[in-house]
Amino acid sequence: MSVRAKISGIGHYVPSKVLDNQELEKMVETTDEWIISRTGIKERRILEDGKASSFMGALAAKVALENAGVAPEELDLIVVATVTPDMFFPSTACLIQHEIGAKNAWGVDVNGACTGFLYATAMGAQFIESGRYQKVLIVGSDKMSSITDYTDRNTCVLFGDAAAAVVLEPSTEPDTGILDYILKSDGSGQNFLYMKGGGSLHPATHETVENKMHYIYQDGRTVFKFAVTGMADVTEQIVKKHNIKSEEIKLFIPHQANLRIIDAAAQRVKLPPEKVLINIDKYGNTTAATIPLGLSEAYNDGRIQKGDYIIFAAFGAGFTWGSMLVRWAY
Ligand code: UT7
Repeated sequence: MSVRAKISGIGHYVPSKVLDNQELEKMVETTDEWIISRTGIKERRILEDGKASSFMGALAAKVALENAGVAPEELDLIVVATVTPDMFFPSTACLIQHEIGAKNAWGVDVNGACTGFLYATAMGAQFIESGRYQKVLIVGSDKMSSITDYTDRNTCVLFGDAAAAVVLEPSTEPDTGILDYILKSDGSGQNFLYMKGGGSLHPATHETVENKMHYIYQDGRTVFKFAVTGMADVTEQIVKKHNIKSEEIKLFIPHQANLRIIDAAAQRVKLPPEKVLINIDKYGNTTAATIPLGLSEAYNDGRIQKGDYIIFAAFGAGFTWGSMLVRWAY
């Protein structure tokens, strides 16, 4: 491969409003102890009414562009991973493109659920590797509170709102940037995690609203089983494929859905806790935003330096799952 894509800038945005476990105890029959022991979550952020995924995505994008030293007009392409677009169409990518003034870019949304950021990044990287484009923006943004039923204790304790973004550019150094990815999907998992209403199968009616079909449904136990195996498998596969020893991995940044799923994947590749990025306690599951949000925080905290090997891994609705190997470029 002659040209690789590298991440040249990163940024994130989280809303200021905090919804903690104590507050949820007043809303549904749950306890702080249950939520922490079963998931690792202490609090999550909630975006205010009247604002949506494009708002968060644009703010994260501006930070990422500044971090990369790239002007919005220089962007060729914007790929947005989200399951909570502002609306079905136009795409959230178009809304962000307009908001940040990326007047020379085209954009498209990708629905890969919790694996969306990995799918979007792999797609954006192709345009760089082919030599077609020089500057691509990838955004993961989800306002999960907009599709969460706050009377359902099975799901409402899990999710939060956030966005994060990366800029991709050609890497000028060998073996640096996005080195590889393993991406998977299996649609036989479709009935275990979904939002049934509002699409062409069940367009919005009084019935769909009454039956709460515009909210997330999850069979947690089943998803848990598949997630533990799926995320650990692809993490192990990418490590073995590249013959990387656990000592050489600087940071593992997994999708933040459940601390127990993260621990299982980390154990499979023998990573000690200090090499695993955990921020689920602060933000819960922010779907397409979890991995770039973790990356952005790690970068801001000085936990990654040029030349470090970083591994991303995710599992989500579909089912979708995947891993990605990155050698940090700056
Ligand atoms: O990001 C996309 C991918 N999603 C995931 O990876 C999520 C995967 N699943 C999970 O993380 C876990 O399955 C959950 C955190 C969703 C649930 O944890 P669990 O240990 O699998 O619990 P469970 O669903 O088996 O439920 C155990 C019990 C049930 O009561 P019974 O039937 O045993 O009497 C639930 O009704 O816990 C009950 N329960 C709760 N209790 C207090 C479920 N939610 C709550 C709650 N507070 N919030």
